[in-house]
Amino acid sequence: MKILVTGGLGFIGSHTCVELLNANYEVVIIDNLSNSSIDVLDKIEEITSKKPKFYEIDVCDKEKVSVVFKENKIDAVIHFAGYKAVGESVSEPLKYYRNNLDSTLTLLEVMKEENCHNFVFSSSATVYGSPKELPIKEDFPLSTTNPYGTTKLMIERILADVSKADKDLSIIVLRYFNPIGAHKSGLIGEKPNGIPNNLMPYIVRVANKELPILSVFGNDYDTPDGTGVRDYIHVVDLAKGHIKALEKCVNFKGIEYYNLGTGTGYSVLDLVNTFEKVNNVEVPYKIVDRRPGDIAACYADPTKAYKELGFKAEYGIEDMCRDSYNFILKNKESHNN
Ligand code: UFG
Repeated sequence: MKILVTGGLGFIGSHTCVELLNANYEVVIIDNLSNSSIDVLDKIEEITSKKPKFYEIDVCDKEKVSVVFKENKIDAVIHFAGYKAVGESVSEPLKYYRNNLDSTLTLLEVMKEENCHNFVFSSSATVYGSPKELPIKEDFPLSTTNPYGTTKLMIERILADVSKADKDLSIIVLRYFNPIGAHKSGLIGEKPNGIPNNLMPYIVRVANKELPILSVFGNDYDTPDGTGVRDYIHVVDLAKGHIKALEKCVNFKGIEYYNLGTGTGYSVLDLVNTFEKVNNVEVPYKIVDRRPGDIAACYADPTKAYKELGFKAEYGIEDMCRDSYNFILKNKESHNN
């Protein structure tokens, strides 16, 4: 089967390409390199000994996307490409709505024209807003607190409508919890531009002495140690979830939604302490005010993905901390060489 992966050189996209190639799928990548680097293509080849076909184009460019479909008989699309910085989406909402919606609409139109019926969408636990209960199940009410999250929710609604109108379509919506970690090889991982917003990229930079101290956003939440609790999932597990989703896609029609998480919540301090222990480094931190818009706790009920996709996360928090740091160390070495 030939799979088109949009945003295939990004953090989750690149790990998914590796798992696809390992599972003997043919891979065609579209990426405009807006938040990724062309080197990742070589790293994917280094890990898998296979070279995916690559197009440096923008998914919003319908003519160019059509050419990709005409040059390749695409059986399924996994759509990762999109802007994802929560804070930036608040200050530049139009950029987020234009890009994230346009790219998805373009893909869906071209898929219809080219008779491609299988679509896996990269959604987020952000669509659950501030959940009233935990763990979070797929049928919980949906709401959002920022434009980034709203683009994910709007796309989910669009996909539901498209699925109703076209009975040939198979759509799987994957709602990711908090992906961290990196490939064991240390060749691919998360490389945010500028000062990181997310916890793990910040921790690794502090551990590496590139940033002086971690700010822990609040220790007065209603959680065991007062700091925010999240469901961290190893990016390689998350990538494998996409293979399971594809397997489901080809055997059903309609639309289905799945949480991809471990089902276990860890606090900010759990993550800091585990990181220090497994990597034998110090991560100095200070407690500061809560970050506006943050929720106390968020973790998945992963039962549906287990029962219907056969997906279960295998890596634990220690692996995630070790692999995140390994990626940074390996990349530091390659800078120095
Ligand atoms: N945190 C800190 N200090 C930091 C960064 C984060 O204490 O410097 C805390 C946050 O307050 C939160 C936890 O670490 O309690 C995790 O924060 P992240 O920014 O890493 O992740 P979020 O859960 O806020 O958001 C992530 C993605 C969103 C996605 C959401 C889905 O960034 O894109 O998960 O639930 F929508």
